[in-house]
Amino acid sequence: MPDTRHSADCADSAHSAHSARPLRIAVIAGSTRDGRFGPVVAGWTLGHIQQREDMSADLVDLVETPLPTVFPAFGQPPAAGTEELLAAVSPRLAEADAFVVVTPEYNHSFPASLKNAIDWHNKEWHAKPVGFVSYGGISGGLRAVEQLRLVFAELNATTIRETVCFPGGWAKFDTDGAATDPASDAAAKTMLDQLAWWAHALRDAKAVRPYAA
Ligand SMILES: Cc1cc2nc3c(=O)[nH]c(=O)nc-3n(C[C@H](O)[C@H](O)[C@H](O)COP(=O)(O)O)c2cc1C
Repeated sequence: MPDTRHSADCADSAHSAHSARPLRIAVIAGSTRDGRFGPVVAGWTLGHIQQREDMSADLVDLVETPLPTVFPAFGQPPAAGTEELLAAVSPRLAEADAFVVVTPEYNHSFPASLKNAIDWHNKEWHAKPVGFVSYGGISGGLRAVEQLRLVFAELNATTIRETVCFPGGWAKFDTDGAATDPASDAAAKTMLDQLAWWAHALRDAKAVRPYAA
């Protein structure tokens, strides 16, 4: 009988090395409004990820990575300059193992800037988990989050049940950007723990069986 122990050991160690690599989390700051509050919430979220040994964070701020709002005709190349703009964001989404979307609520939904960035991509979202940190008025952005779940389902992404939300968000942080209610920090940990479970599970699964949409 051939000795298969060596190759099995190699496969096991390659698998563990792959599994041990910190999860790459793209934090998407969805609002682009002048005077926006979003950077406070995104910075706080980023801080939570950076505290963890099992994750590394990449902040994708849609102000810094603007994308056109005019899409090309089907089968046609995008307008001149579009590829350069996409190059600043698409590879970062493609490399991410998971996403945290930081979204406000605009008119009971998500901002157009966020939907535009989502729509410019497709396979970058596939078979990856998406967690949410939301803020807004009385609903804390939860209506935006519930609608985003529908959008991400269409993109073969899976959304995380646990969310972090800040009703009246502007009053929930101190001047250093720390959340004033410790329950928010606990909620972030719960959401990120769930995100990590899904991100590991899906990354491991894709290593064995590439995702076919
Ligand atoms: C166009 C617009 C519509 C809004 N609609 C809602 C809303 O439907 N529900 C809500 O709770 N807050 C609403 N707000 C309040 C925002 O959620 C809140 O101001 C938030 O801080 C906006 O995020 P930003 O400052 O990062 O742009 C709205 C704000 C704007 C600018």
